[in-house]
Amino acid sequence: MAADDAGGANGMAGAGGANGAGGAGGGNGIAGTGGADAAGNAGGAEYAGGADGADAILKIRGLEVAFKTTAGTVRAVRGIDLDLRRGQTFAIVGESGSGKSVAAKAIVGIRARNQSVTAGTVEYAGAGAGALAASAARKAGRAGGGAGQNACSDTSQGAGQNAGRAASIDLLRLSERDMRRNINGRRISMIFQDPMTSLNPTMPIGRQIMEPMLLHSRASGISRGEARAKALRLLELAGIPDPAGCLRAYPHQLSGGMRQRAVISVALACDPEILICDEPTTALDVTIQEKILRLIKDIQRRTGICVVYITHDLGVVAKVADMVAVMYAGRIVESGTAEEIFYDPRHPYTWGLLLAVPDMNASGERLHAIRGNPPNLLHGIEGDAFAPRSPHALKIDARRAPPLYQISPTHFARSWLLHENARPPEMPGELRARIDGMIAQALADARH
Ligand SMILES: Nc1ncnc2c1ncn2[C@@H]1O[C@H](COP(=O)(O)OP(=O)(O)OP(=O)(O)O)[C@@H](O)[C@H]1O
Ligand SMILES: [Mg+2]
Repeated sequence: MAADDAGGANGMAGAGGANGAGGAGGGNGIAGTGGADAAGNAGGAEYAGGADGADAILKIRGLEVAFKTTAGTVRAVRGIDLDLRRGQTFAIVGESGSGKSVAAKAIVGIRARNQSVTAGTVEYAGAGAGALAASAARKAGRAGGGAGQNACSDTSQGAGQNAGRAASIDLLRLSERDMRRNINGRRISMIFQDPMTSLNPTMPIGRQIMEPMLLHSRASGISRGEARAKALRLLELAGIPDPAGCLRAYPHQLSGGMRQRAVISVALACDPEILICDEPTTALDVTIQEKILRLIKDIQRRTGICVVYITHDLGVVAKVADMVAVMYAGRIVESGTAEEIFYDPRHPYTWGLLLAVPDMNASGERLHAIRGNPPNLLHGIEGDAFAPRSPHALKIDARRAPPLYQISPTHFARSWLLHENARPPEMPGELRARIDGMIAQALADARH
């Protein structure tokens, strides 16, 4: 069923034209349930991130990022909510252009000149948050009423309050300088797809690992000798066979896999609490990809850091993720534990992404691509952004963004198909069969 003629079959035609745009009193249609605003935020569940919302080190709420271009404003991130916890592996998955990198860069404070964060908060509650909050409050106090407004008047309030209670600070209110000095690379590190973009080609690897440590040496009290010894340990931890040799080597002298390991060492130099890996293995061949993923998992077990993987391929994170968020057109359309996303996916887009993962158990099987293309984020998006590509689209999708539906304490999805008056569509048969196969396999493994 195409988006155009959808609706009737589900008994939801009333949700669209029949009731008019206001959608009041929709009978058994779903428009009348209303409450969902244009952003699709109200009327549904509040994102709670997990059973215990309190222990997140990073709590992102309503993050919106836009770019001014000569053609107009690109709304790349349109309101995302996410909680990250210590020791957790979080995967953010979505097709190219869905806003994964823009969101991650906004979190660590990498800001393009034409970019603005138009809404939201990124509450950081990890190490050093109290000191940062107190310092922000002091600065705002010094700047005084009017002068403080621009920089961080809200921070001053929030920070001041937070400084007294459990410490947290909204990273979006920190200046670029404060982010560079105190957060990026120190508390939250990010590694990118191409190791060469993270490494300086003119500097030996050892110096690149030691530099961030020495930059923060005033706070950590680390000496040059200690930094060198730690750099060696980090290279060892990253599985580099000759750490002493690597310390002196320049990036071009290393293979791709070794370079990515060196980048991981640089990222871990200041013992961050969160490591964001943006497509860290895409440029590597499959066996090295697996080794790097296993290495990061291993480091995580030893250090207890929170790891965030950004990828377009759900298959890549199947073995390592605890939590998965699926992004489409600047929003998270489904999130949950890895089990919920892989065994009980609810959003048609997630179904498409899962079907796009090659099935290792089926030989000669055709690859599934999701039909159509993501929307152009230059144009305002009305309704459900995925509807034009969804075989299950409803009439209401064209007009109103779906609210967030809660499926379990940890599982959320944005689709009108989850409305109580909607008849949920059948998951594609091939995906159902794959999931049944995975469940059977998991049960068999558990018995042995
Ligand atoms: N500096 C910029 N100016 C204008 N638009 C931008 C800029 N940077 C990113 N965008 C746009 O923001 C949107 C999201 O981009 P982003 O890089 O986050 O996608 P992604 O999900 O990381 O994709 P990929 O998997 O290809 O890396 C895209 O439409 C992109 O064109
Ligand atoms: Mg990207």
